[in-house]
Parts: sequence; structure tokens; C-alpha cells
Amino acid sequence: MSTKFTWFGHSAMGLETGGYQILVDPFFTGNPASSISAGQATADFILLSHGHGDHFGDLEAVAQRSGAVVISNDEIATYLDGRGLKTHHQHIGGGYHHPFGYLKLTQALHGSGLPDGSYGGNPAGFLLTTLDQKKIYLACDTGLFGDMRLIGEEGIDLAVLPIGDNFTMGPDDALRAVKLIQPRIVVPIHYNTWELLAQDPHAWARRVQAETETTVSVLNPGESLEV
Ligand code: NI
Ligand code: MN
Repeated sequence: MSTKFTWFGHSAMGLETGGYQILVDPFFTGNPASSISAGQATADFILLSHGHGDHFGDLEAVAQRSGAVVISNDEIATYLDGRGLKTHHQHIGGGYHHPFGYLKLTQALHGSGLPDGSYGGNPAGFLLTTLDQKKIYLACDTGLFGDMRLIGEEGIDLAVLPIGDNFTMGPDDALRAVKLIQPRIVVPIHYNTWELLAQDPHAWARRVQAETETTVSVLNPGESLEV
């Protein structure tokens, strides 16, 4: 068994694991970096890290069409219940054995307001333990925090970190995050979507490879890697 991770551009991601398709932060329409259209997206489960429009994106359309179960914090899941979607409510620090693996919500230092102004609770990242015991940490939108060290203690195979700066960690703090987490592989995301998030991922990769044992995989939108 293996897990396939795909970056669709910006913060939209896909995981294929245990025979399930999982979408994360499904922002395709209006995402200048997206490798697919909302109509091409399909999922059994959708993970939503927080309420911001560049993550919420096409969630409702994709969930309605695919019948996917949306997993998010209690406030957003309650909001989506009211919109007629199938949901699973979790919250930070809590894990649950889903059919695709054990998923825990992690803290994230960020905001979470929903596109229509509704309260979106606190933002989260995700720590997935796959059915074959691979550990995947999706930090999602966050600043650097020292407790990334605790996440790293679990033994992370793949960490996916923002490097875009301005709204999230930039390259310097993302490098410090790699040192705290010590993942086997790291993938940078949440950059170059717009000019405001312009970064050179290859320059960042050279720094990470020089200063840590972690392998950096710089993906183009639409590209995948096997974990
Ligand atoms: Ni955000
Ligand atoms: Mn964002």
C-alpha cells in the first residue's frame, strides 16, 4: 500500500490512500495556480483547515456533487451542516479513526473567518496516520510555533509547509519548522499563487538540504509524490 500526495496549486492538495480519495482545501475556481478545474475534482472526504476563501474555495460544489464527507473544526462543520453537507466534526488535539486512517487536527496560528463573514472557529492543520502507519503532517496556513517539535516527535514521513510569507510562514521560518519537525520529506506550498506570495522554492530547497537531513520535493501544480 502506498499513499499518493498531489499538490493542485496554492493550498489545494489531494491524498489517495487506503482506496480513498481525499481533497484538502479545495480552492480551484479563481486560483491562478490551480492545475485542475472544480469540475474535475472528486473526493470521498474533504478536509478543510480553516474558513478563508483561498481554502474554502469550491468546497460546497465539490462536496455536493461527489457526496464527500467534509471534516473540519466544529464551528465550520456546524456551518456546513446548515448548508446540507455531510460532515464530521473534530477539533484541535482530537483524532478519529476514519476509514482512510487516523486523522488528528493540530493547532495553527492564523485566522478562520468564512467567506460570508460567519465565524469559522480556530484554524487547524492535519496529522494523518495512514492505514500502513505513514505519518503525514499538513501544517496548512500557520505561523511558526515551537510545538511543531511535538508533532515531529511522532516521526513524520511527509510534512507540507507554507513558505509564501505575508499570511503564513515565509522561507526563514519554514526552514526553522523543518528543523523542529525533522520530516523525511518536505513539500513547500502556499507560494507564487499571486505576486504577494512570490518565493523561489528551489532556493529554499537548497537551504533545507544544506542545513537538515530532510529531502525537499519541489512540486509543480498537478504533480504528485508517493509517500
Ligand atoms: Ni488563510
Ligand atoms: Mn491561505
